[in-house]
Amino acid sequence: MKDIVPTPPPIVRNDYESIRDLFAKNVVPSYGRFDLALSHGAGSYVFDVTGKRYLDLGSGIAVCCLGHAHPAITEALVEQSKKLIHVSNLYFTEPQGRLAAEIVKRIGAGKCFFANSGAEANEGLFKLARKFGHDEGRFEILTATNSFHGRTMAGIAATGQDKVKKGFEPMMPGFRHIPFNDLDAARKAISPATSAIMIEGVQGEGGVTPATPEYLIGLRQLCDEKKMLLLMDEVQCGYFRTGKFQSFQRILEGVPGGEKFLPDGISMAKSLGGGFPIGAFWVRAPFADLLGPGTHASTFGGTPLACVVALKILEVVESEKLDEQARKLGDWLKSGLERLAKTYPAVVKNARGLGFMLGFELAEKIPAFASSDKPAAIQFTNRMHQAGVLVIPAGAQVIRLLPPLNLKPQEAGEGIAKIEQVIKSLA
Ligand SMILES: Cc1ncc(COP(=O)(O)O)c(C=O)c1O
Repeated sequence: MKDIVPTPPPIVRNDYESIRDLFAKNVVPSYGRFDLALSHGAGSYVFDVTGKRYLDLGSGIAVCCLGHAHPAITEALVEQSKKLIHVSNLYFTEPQGRLAAEIVKRIGAGKCFFANSGAEANEGLFKLARKFGHDEGRFEILTATNSFHGRTMAGIAATGQDKVKKGFEPMMPGFRHIPFNDLDAARKAISPATSAIMIEGVQGEGGVTPATPEYLIGLRQLCDEKKMLLLMDEVQCGYFRTGKFQSFQRILEGVPGGEKFLPDGISMAKSLGGGFPIGAFWVRAPFADLLGPGTHASTFGGTPLACVVALKILEVVESEKLDEQARKLGDWLKSGLERLAKTYPAVVKNARGLGFMLGFELAEKIPAFASSDKPAAIQFTNRMHQAGVLVIPAGAQVIRLLPPLNLKPQEAGEGIAKIEQVIKSLA
């Protein structure tokens, strides 16, 4: 353990109450937060303000792909910040151009636009779809039920979950939802106004549900036939998480015709910056110049600092083969979760996911949870915190594991052992 668990700095007092008080008085209470105040991290571990250590199997909801305080990220940030943190997109900067080239190289002929978040990357794709259909009066985008596409006004309109829309009506027009993985439903839903379909490769917030290969290939054919754009939100499931650069590349591996598949637009964020805010979308070559000068912009989009960090992440992930690690160790973790589902069916219904995007569904009625009205996933996550592990709830019943791509085998072992310990205590 010595090499993976650095000594935490000395903790002089427990600041949790005072930090919570600062939030209660000063921070908009739009997040449901757990009773944890985190102070620092190292590798796959984070420490709270009392000095308690947690194995971080959530990595900031699929963001910290190299774990915490990775020296390569620190060095990239420090060195670039001595040269140039930000200049306007009125000018060219080399890191943005190089990062775009690296992304294009890994996906296919096209171009990139840089933003700051997943929602903003999706906004860009929505605008692309509007521009694409504009002259024919087409503006509608179909998205899937249970999808999640961000919290902006267009993002919540696009998201196929009522809970994000409630209280913010009327919704922005131009979005309709179709059942996920149902090609017939997609075909039937198309209207003369439809210009695009957007889906996640693996639904994340919706409960870790991968798209089927038939669905992806079928949507591609449908979009070609109806002259619509096929857009993929890879914000959570992309960027090596499933073991390939983007999740569709993993889903379609070995599938006849799969190697030729390309969406028309792909949004990215989260792991792209490893914790430094950056989002992006890639757009396929025939549509790459649709958003011409003056049509779209973002002050902080693609700063030299953000792009240098993102370039460093690509270099580390690929030189250390962390994509293969995510796939191998992800398979191992998934088989561990499947074993737990078999051993404790009264607590775990099933396990699912790809690579390091895994989920398990909790049983409907867990007696130990009956006395609280909090959803099972929240109560389970609280128990994992007590056991010293961070996991991420998805909806009311699903627990997600989204570990850093450089999680070590012994850390994966520790994670499964602690998950089993909590499950056993509920069985
Ligand atoms: C699939 C997907 N799209 C979009 C978003 C929004 O990203 P952001 O929170 O960076 O705006 C998320 C965030 O969880 C996501 O999972």
